[in-house]
Amino acid sequence: MFAKRWDFITSVTDMAQLPEIGNTEIAFAGRSNVGKSSLINALTGRHGLARTSSTPGRTQMLNFFGNEETPLTIVDMPGYGYAQAPKDMVDAWTRLVFSYLRGRPTLRRIFVLIDSRHGIKPNDSEAMSLLDKAAVSYQIVLTKSDKIKPPQLKRLEEETLTLLSKRVAAFPRLIATSSEKNQGLDLLKAEIASIV
Ligand code: GTP
Ligand code: MG
Repeated sequence: MFAKRWDFITSVTDMAQLPEIGNTEIAFAGRSNVGKSSLINALTGRHGLARTSSTPGRTQMLNFFGNEETPLTIVDMPGYGYAQAPKDMVDAWTRLVFSYLRGRPTLRRIFVLIDSRHGIKPNDSEAMSLLDKAAVSYQIVLTKSDKIKPPQLKRLEEETLTLLSKRVAAFPRLIATSSEKNQGLDLLKAEIASIV
């Protein structure tokens, strides 16, 4: 499916605008600037498909991507935990993200992205608790693995797996990725293929 050409379908700022229920969906969630949009570009091989920026708060809507031949839609989301944006704006994104995550029957898995340099932060835990409560299946993907040394990455993986073992809706497998160095992408693609 990742050999196909992926295209932008639609942007959504309000739950009422969601595309009709149909395809299986997977979504990329995580703190602002963690690398959600970059990972979608790396997976689909289309740089510039999802907009990225070194300034947090780049993605401000739910963005849907698809290709003609696979019944899979990929959803890029605004990040949570971006303190610099105006509070009412952040509240609106957060509401949108969480109502989408809770209320979408075709959403099969949420990839919760965690920056390899930072590990799980309080707002990640909050997001995971919400997913646990809503019984929405999620899986952790470590991003920017090129930014830390292999022994540190290994330690982070072990620590993170220990934390996850206490969570009900978390997948007990981690994938470490670097969109910049194309690491871990084949593993993630295989994981996604197994869902569809
Ligand atoms: P928001 O839309 O603001 O929530 O951010 P995002 O999670 O979509 O992050 P985005 O993909 O825009 O990337 C944020 C910054 O991190 C950009 O400057 C990227 O170039 C950088 N980045 C993303 N992935 C990687 C990676 O694997 N390695 C490195 N070194 N930098 C990365
Ligand atoms: Mg983004």
